[in-house]
Amino acid sequence: LRHLISAADLTRDDAVLILDTAEEMARVADRPIKKLPTLRGRTVVNLFFEDSTRTRISFEAAEKRLSADVINFSAKGSSVSKGESLKDTAQTLEAMGVDAVVIRHGASGAPYRLATSGWIDAAVINAGDGTHQHPTQALLDAFTMRRRLIGRDAGLGQDLAGRRITIVGDILHSRVARSNVDLLHTLGAEVTLVAPPTLVPVGVEHWPCEVSYDLDSTLPKSDAVMMLRVQRERMNAAFFPTEREYSRRYGLDGDRMARMPEHAIVMHPGPMVRGMEITAEVADSDRCTVVEQVANGVSIRMAVLYLLLGGNESAVSHARTTEG
Ligand code: CP
Repeated sequence: LRHLISAADLTRDDAVLILDTAEEMARVADRPIKKLPTLRGRTVVNLFFEDSTRTRISFEAAEKRLSADVINFSAKGSSVSKGESLKDTAQTLEAMGVDAVVIRHGASGAPYRLATSGWIDAAVINAGDGTHQHPTQALLDAFTMRRRLIGRDAGLGQDLAGRRITIVGDILHSRVARSNVDLLHTLGAEVTLVAPPTLVPVGVEHWPCEVSYDLDSTLPKSDAVMMLRVQRERMNAAFFPTEREYSRRYGLDGDRMARMPEHAIVMHPGPMVRGMEITAEVADSDRCTVVEQVANGVSIRMAVLYLLLGGNESAVSHARTTEG
């Protein structure tokens, strides 16, 4: 792969290689000095046209742990606010000699345009585009599931064949749901989407998953339950579900969590709205992996940068041999 635009572009072997490489990268995070020399002399730009907390910070941490030179660009406060186009912004970056561009954009397709336009030579990594894709989120979610459901060492080389994953909430506006359905299907998992009928996308019958409107009957058959935020910022106000009605039918509280198998985990990509899709009791429970997902995001993003920018085997070996 030269770019990472969509989880649908990954084969099973690509995805397992990224997950296994992320396990090697996680060993670096366990060490007192959390750095590898792999990307010394390479420049990575974080190009954020849309707000982010977790993705922006974890890409920056990943780049710094690999010793890259990092440039952070936020559309707010840049010449984008004066009307500068994506093309001119990209060519400005190209003139500065960047090796990779991590881009988040409100428009679905912006990272694809950047990667295929010929405006830049750099590797392009999609950090979330509109309602389309968020491939590194899906990878860190799969990494978290593999660790929790199979085990850190036992999981090496493994996919998620036969695991039952339920994704609950605003599927219509969710790039996280789309990316997870694509990747989890590639990894052999069985995915069920649960949402109010108004928040299910047209054409979902062509996606490689099941759809249900009944959360309570789906929970006992789930190995992992991923809760999603209702994305009001992408909705017409007339279509907002009321908080009380939504949480009564689709929110995860302690009683509902008790219906899940004992080994099953609760996931959330963040940001969470406590009291809407998830109660504080569930969000703060041992079964909820939200903080682990953030930590795992750094290892996944190190792995993606390392593999796309042509990291050599010795850097991973270095992480393995200097463990501890
Ligand atoms: N999960 C996620 O993409 O969070 P941010 O919007 O904070 O990056």
